[in-house]
Amino acid sequence: MTKQNSPPRRHPIALVLAAWLLASFSAAAAWASVATTSPPLKPITINLQDKAALRNGALYTLHMCTACHSLQGTRYSSLPAMLGMSEARFKEIIGTNGHHYHDVITSSMPPSVIDAFVKILPMDLTYIARRHSPAWLYTYLTSFYVDPSRPSGVNNVVFNNVAMPDVFAPLQGLQKPVMTEGLRYGSPAKVAIGVEPLTKGSMTQAQFDRTARDIVTFLYAVAHSHEQERWRLGPWIIGLFVLLSVLTYLIYRLYWRRVITSEERWWKVGK
Ligand code: HEC
Repeated sequence: MTKQNSPPRRHPIALVLAAWLLASFSAAAAWASVATTSPPLKPITINLQDKAALRNGALYTLHMCTACHSLQGTRYSSLPAMLGMSEARFKEIIGTNGHHYHDVITSSMPPSVIDAFVKILPMDLTYIARRHSPAWLYTYLTSFYVDPSRPSGVNNVVFNNVAMPDVFAPLQGLQKPVMTEGLRYGSPAKVAIGVEPLTKGSMTQAQFDRTARDIVTFLYAVAHSHEQERWRLGPWIIGLFVLLSVLTYLIYRLYWRRVITSEERWWKVGK
């Protein structure tokens, strides 16, 4: 008797699996072809309760950054409470750049300047701070380096070919890049992975790093304005749900204790 080999049957699950594998390989290949060496981010710890850091961050942000960026996630009038200072003290020390106290914080750049020089307004800082992690923001702010090939003369380690000028040059001094052979959109290229000091600024390195950290703390606090409230309310709300679960379980037990099962019924269905 000869053994008959049945023709190989293609199982539908095997077909689906093969298609899925093929799709994931081609996606991985597409991803690999645009791979870019990503420089390490500088770790940072921010403390949203640190009012001194928030005040310092607000001072620098409202005096340096709003020359170009808006910060539409907040109004001047909501800042004093967040910074732990009175309205009068806020107006005296930080001020509103000539805007009304109850205004949303907008860029101070007049539309004519925008049209003549930048064409597109830099993105809103609230949006930027929601999109990036504190470590990314901190690395970005501390990692501008001299690059004569750029129109502004500077480039940035975590934002290649950035259009923002190095507004910190007077404080931090200039920096030179630490380059390595890496990938940019899949092609071999020299990639900056860090910076080294080139000239001295008016601040020491530690002072500047603290200033950058304070700016990140302030931006993060504005962009996540309900975070502290969420941490405060979260445990109570989870506790409430746990309590409700226990009560619901007790009610369930109570109801089922009173339900008559078919064994206990004096009329027997189907008998
Ligand atoms: C002279 C105008 C100017 C000033 C002042 C300025 N910026 Fe910018 N900033 C820009 C421009 C223009 C861009 C857009 C860069 C691009 O898209 O290439 C930018 C981009 C950024 C980004 C990256 C946003 C992204 O798309 O991910 C961050 C973060 C940022 N700025 C933070 C700040 C902070 C914080 C300050 C204040 C210390 C500041 N900027 C001051 C012009 C400015």
